[in-house]
Amino acid sequence: MNNTDDQKKIIVAIDGYSSSGKSTMARELAARVGYVYVDSGAMYRAVTLYAIRNGMVTPDKKIRTALLTAALPDIHISFRPAGDDGVQHTMLNGEDVEKLIRDMEVSNLVSPVAVIPDVRERLTALQQEFGINKGIVMDGRDIGTTVFPDAELKVFVCASPEERARRRLKEMTEKGDDVTFEEVFANVVERDRIDTTREVSPLRKADDAIELDNGAMSPSEQMEWLLQRFKERSGL
Ligand code: CDP
Repeated sequence: MNNTDDQKKIIVAIDGYSSSGKSTMARELAARVGYVYVDSGAMYRAVTLYAIRNGMVTPDKKIRTALLTAALPDIHISFRPAGDDGVQHTMLNGEDVEKLIRDMEVSNLVSPVAVIPDVRERLTALQQEFGINKGIVMDGRDIGTTVFPDAELKVFVCASPEERARRRLKEMTEKGDDVTFEEVFANVVERDRIDTTREVSPLRKADDAIELDNGAMSPSEQMEWLLQRFKERSGL
């Protein structure tokens, strides 16, 4: 299925809890329909890596908010198109940080960084720029509620925390990371808590989003489901 100019391009917003499989389905949908894919979580992760590297985290793991806010104009985030590995790489000030931003250290600090209003404001503006010509699939926490409230297709993905921690553990162990189920589970639960209770753009289902509980679905069933919804909304 290839998109051409005379077909109606839409915006697809995929939100949901951590490790719910959003990124995989968003990336695959974009590839199948010839859309741009943007991983908004990677942008929050890149800002977090910058904070860690630049002494903006206290020894007791608090973010030095004023320092980070002041440094925002110096933080440039972009994406390098997918190469042989089929994965788009996140660039922080010209450096490929795709692997580093997936570390447990970043995972443990990213939600506290993502509560900072100035960080959200800057990244939201950048995300909206990416979507200016539509034809985009973006995944995150507030895409259907804040970044693209008029998106033509909104999906809200959920699965139990245990299932999500199992998936994340498998992904990390396959990459050679040395982590335990308990560590990953604790991170999933804590990020859910911070993401749903923060003041600015908390994680919640947009009123017009379609809910997908993919706990018992295989990746191919999930893709079929999503492609069907995409066809309905885009008229393809
Ligand atoms: O991959 P996973 O679903 O675990 O997380 P992610 O998409 O990489 O996002 C990492 C973190 O960034 C989330 O836990 C949120 O705290 C934050 N985030 C956000 O606040 N808003 C977004 N649109 C995307 C991510």
